[in-house]
Amino acid sequence: MPDKTTVPMIRARKGRDKIRMVTAYDYPTARIADRAGADVILVGDSVGNVVLGRPDTLGVTVDEIVHHTAAVMRAEPQALVVADMPWLSYHTTSEDAVTNAARMIREGGAAAVKLEGGAKRAVVIKAILDAEIPVQGHIGLTPQSVHAMGGMRVQGREADAAYELISDAKALADAGVFSIVLEGVPDVLAEIVTREVDVPTIGIGAGASCDGQVLVFHDVVGLGGGDYLPKFVRQYAGLADTAVEALARWFEDVQSGAFPGEAETYHMPAESAAVLRELTESAFGTADELMADEAMEK
Ligand code: KIV
Repeated sequence: MPDKTTVPMIRARKGRDKIRMVTAYDYPTARIADRAGADVILVGDSVGNVVLGRPDTLGVTVDEIVHHTAAVMRAEPQALVVADMPWLSYHTTSEDAVTNAARMIREGGAAAVKLEGGAKRAVVIKAILDAEIPVQGHIGLTPQSVHAMGGMRVQGREADAAYELISDAKALADAGVFSIVLEGVPDVLAEIVTREVDVPTIGIGAGASCDGQVLVFHDVVGLGGGDYLPKFVRQYAGLADTAVEALARWFEDVQSGAFPGEAETYHMPAESAAVLRELTESAFGTADELMADEAMEK
């Protein structure tokens, strides 16, 4: 059994072999992610749209992330589990942020938390770190800022905005995050950030230079509910189609009577069955008698 992946292990991967991070929201997806060799499992607030069918991540609560993190932890993954801090769980006071982050650890069982935003989050990040909770940063296209950004748009396309994101990344690294998710930014910007900060960068729609990559589980395996897939997703399987086909075949077998067959059926010993038949016949009559009674009643 390999050692459980820890925060220092991920931190030490900077500039070495690529970090493989994927979301998971429950016991089976965590087991699959772990079996496939994930280094980091993120219980993302994307649970809101991906699993709960909401339009965005803004409705996700601390209780929901704790609930889903606990389910992921029951899979006992070897991967490092990071719980996403949902919108408004770290925007009010540092005290609230520490209390909410602590719930991810104590009740959810995660080893670290992730939160969105750059330099302006430095104070809150330091407060969470002071409580001995490791923090992962997340800048660029930050879905919790969907309204402020005017939609889910690639960030840092202009030099000024890109320069600000580099400053944000440095501020996060200075504050003490153990890694930074870079989402929806041009590849050259991700390349510069990756060179300029001493913590691993983990890209999603950020080109190939990052120290690792993250995608949403359901996108990679083709289990999403809708038809839309962002440009940065590569889908490696079509599990939703496979599942529809499997269920449709089962329904056909139910309809035709081919299911259940011998292999899916329980039996009792022949002697017990004979005794049962005798008992029921003396109590209720034979099947033929019952049918005759029913016919008379009609
Ligand atoms: O919630 C999420 O899935 C994320 C990843 C896209 C990084 O934050």
